[in-house]
Amino acid sequence: MGGGVRERTSVEVRRLTSDDAGALVAFFATVPEGDRTFFKEDITQPGTVAGWVADPQHRNIALVDGLIVGYAAVLKGVAWSSHVGEIRIVVSPTHRGLGIGRLLAQRAVVEAKELGLVKLMVELVAGHDRLLAMFTGLGFVQEGRLRAHVRTASGDTRDLLVLAHFVDELAAMILPAATDASDGPADPRGTPSH
Ligand SMILES: CC(C)(COP(=O)(O)OP(=O)(O)OC[C@H]1O[C@@H](n2cnc3c(N)ncnc32)[C@H](O)[C@@H]1OP(=O)(O)O)[C@@H](O)C(=O)NCCC(=O)NCCS
Repeated sequence: MGGGVRERTSVEVRRLTSDDAGALVAFFATVPEGDRTFFKEDITQPGTVAGWVADPQHRNIALVDGLIVGYAAVLKGVAWSSHVGEIRIVVSPTHRGLGIGRLLAQRAVVEAKELGLVKLMVELVAGHDRLLAMFTGLGFVQEGRLRAHVRTASGDTRDLLVLAHFVDELAAMILPAATDASDGPADPRGTPSH
């Protein structure tokens, strides 16, 4: 992962627009199947991408020389998790290790704040220590480990790590006041803060 390559690569990160639909479908076609399943939606279907570009808020793309090489979304939770967002990032295999994933993750944290989210989470396949270090460097803390939760194309299983980041510590402190007092004191984080 040479720092020189990072310096020489000029990356633009910007909001997805409706004009990007075709290019985004083409980008996802370059993503290996094993990485695509991480999305939990069939991202090769134009209908999936059409839905995203119709609602591009908090979806960003990374471009190198005008070509899409990365995508990141902050998906807002619903109902009792409406204060929680989940980030999904994918970078083209041809452009990994250049710092693009990190750029997209940083943007996602900023967007989570803009969305008014208190907590941001991300799921990572276990065993990628430097990737884990990147997320912990951004303030994420491991909250869970789901054993043998991911099955690879070859049939092997991997653990799935659930990481979370309290993007708005102030809101997190205020949140218990909004819960039913009969439930007793509540810590929305459930685990000691970092
Ligand atoms: C995860 C992913 C988005 C990283 O993108 P990227 O552009 O390569 O990330 P960066 O270049 O910013 O790398 C950030 C750090 O993670 C490390 N890293 C990235 N991918 C890694 C991998 N598969 N295994 C181990 N470490 C990895 C890099 O070495 C780097 O560490 P360093 O700064 O110590 O060198 C990309 O590998 C991908 O698209 N994976 C498939 C989808 C996925 O698993 N997404 C989960 C994250 S939401």
